[in-house]
Amino acid sequence: MPTGSFKMIFVRSELMLSRTPPMGFNTWNTFGENINESVIKETADAMVEKGLLEAGYNYLVIDDCWSERERDPETGKIVPDKIKFPNGMKAVSDYVHSKGLKFGMYSCAGTRTCADYPGSFDHEFLDARTFAEYGADFLKYDFCYKPNVANGPLLYRKMGMALKASGREILFSACNWGNDEVNTWIRSAGAHMYRSTGDINDSFPSMRDISLSQIDNLAYSAPGCFNDIDMLTIGMYGEGNVGSSGCTDIDYKTQFAVWCMFSAPLMLGGDIRNLNDKMLELVKNKDLIRINQDEEGRPAFCTTGSREAKSFVKLLSDNEIAVLLVNFGESDAHVEFYFENIGIPAASGYGLEMRDVFTGKNLGVKKEFMRRKIAAHDCECYICKLAK
Ligand code: GLA
Repeated sequence: MPTGSFKMIFVRSELMLSRTPPMGFNTWNTFGENINESVIKETADAMVEKGLLEAGYNYLVIDDCWSERERDPETGKIVPDKIKFPNGMKAVSDYVHSKGLKFGMYSCAGTRTCADYPGSFDHEFLDARTFAEYGADFLKYDFCYKPNVANGPLLYRKMGMALKASGREILFSACNWGNDEVNTWIRSAGAHMYRSTGDINDSFPSMRDISLSQIDNLAYSAPGCFNDIDMLTIGMYGEGNVGSSGCTDIDYKTQFAVWCMFSAPLMLGGDIRNLNDKMLELVKNKDLIRINQDEEGRPAFCTTGSREAKSFVKLLSDNEIAVLLVNFGESDAHVEFYFENIGIPAASGYGLEMRDVFTGKNLGVKKEFMRRKIAAHDCECYICKLAK
């Protein structure tokens, strides 16, 4: 093959959207309908100032409730809410881009969005063009108010096509909450990520149930299209639109480690302007982000565990191996697994040299099995190398 062709292949793969799980911020968890131009600009500023963009969080996505209640009767277009966005969406998008961030919009496959604003049903191509005019780089596409006669998968295929025809490269974030066995067809519809679960709220049971529900679907997340287990609630502490009972710092630590290990998109949902230092440090943890963003994009697998004490292993590039031990239960538990069950028999002489990603501490070489006592809701996470 001539050198030129190699070059071409390299350039294409660099350009591929969603080569690794998308990262960014979405307005829904904290702001719900209380979004406006200032909130978006302040969030964009904060994402840069707090080092989140540098850490990889590059999409700023406006969720539901951004438009007027009805389309423009003359043009048929969706119109931004004139009070929330008095200068229109292009101005907001320009500001977001000026910060080095990418800009995301939201619509719905049904006739109305989940919060009862105009949906894109039967307007897919017009709306995709409108989002391209705004300079959107990302579209989250929800599933409320789907007419009964409409075919769910086909609605996603239509928007997939409409985005391709829009003249702009727009990351397609499908959100049908796991309906219609979504993991079996969504990649073929052109989506770059897809929600597989119902909505998260800011409580440990919510994040626990979402996590456990996807253990059998971990392999349906790969470069080009990742399984989205919803926006993170890290740092919300029960405040905001999906604030519920709230979580502890330990709960947030486990949430982030699970999302990273599951190769899930990392869309922050807490108020970036007010994230405390501990939460900022957590979501910027380089090792955890490295596990999430590993270029080989191999899925984690669940090795052993009782209903609530789980261990996960994920092969990384450079011959490294990530291990996550989680206690999803309500009291202390032993989380354990035999190396034999992850492909390292005792007879091989090999064990794992383990480095704790939270403390940086090297545990030395462990062999044959791993058994750790872990407090309720807590986790331990290691990056390992095979060693004798
Ligand atoms: C659905 C989605 C949420 C959010 C809301 C907005 O519930 O699953 O993530 O987008 O709609 O109304």
